[in-house]
Amino acid sequence: MDLKQYVTTVENWPKEGITFRDITTIMDNGPAYKYATDEIVKYAKELGAEIVVGPEARGFIIGCPVAYALQIGFAPVRKPGKLPREVISVDYGLEYGKDTLTMHKDAIKPGQKVLICDDLLATGGTVEATVRLVEQLGGQVVGCAFLIELVELNGREKLGDLAIKALIQY
Ligand code: PRP
Ligand code: ADE
Repeated sequence: MDLKQYVTTVENWPKEGITFRDITTIMDNGPAYKYATDEIVKYAKELGAEIVVGPEARGFIIGCPVAYALQIGFAPVRKPGKLPREVISVDYGLEYGKDTLTMHKDAIKPGQKVLICDDLLATGGTVEATVRLVEQLGGQVVGCAFLIELVELNGREKLGDLAIKALIQY
């Protein structure tokens, strides 16, 4: 399936100069959403993933159906103040300023093989912070899967030798 045809491009959103790649038109199409999920499920099986981790909010949309299909768990990465129990946090750089992501301290078992899922790889800041969280918890990131990679933003460079799959590239 040519998944790219289901992505909607919105120019100058949320700011002037940004070309926004909207995945809601993949999600609202049953066969396209299933195809995208199945491709990532295949990848997760190749890697032997034992749990899926996804950053809010769009990482949940991609990661949860993958975890469900594999009958493995899903652990959420959230902004501060959203998770009710003890958390660990990492700060990460944005273009201007910084932000923080958190995970529950017991979300990953030591040595567990983790697949990180998100809708889109841009600068890589979000996924790099997610890798740091998983590693602080003793997890082993076996790979990262995205629907979309914005190649010119060089997000891959932040991820070193990590295995990365992106179904669509711009
Ligand atoms: C978007 C997207 C990725 C991230 C990619 O999330 O879903 O998580 O940006 O950008 P990066 O590679 O430069 O970090 P956003 O922060 O907009 O949050 P949302 O999923 O809640 O919309
Ligand atoms: N997240 C970061 N950059 C994005 C873009 N260009 N389109 C959709 N989501 C994004």
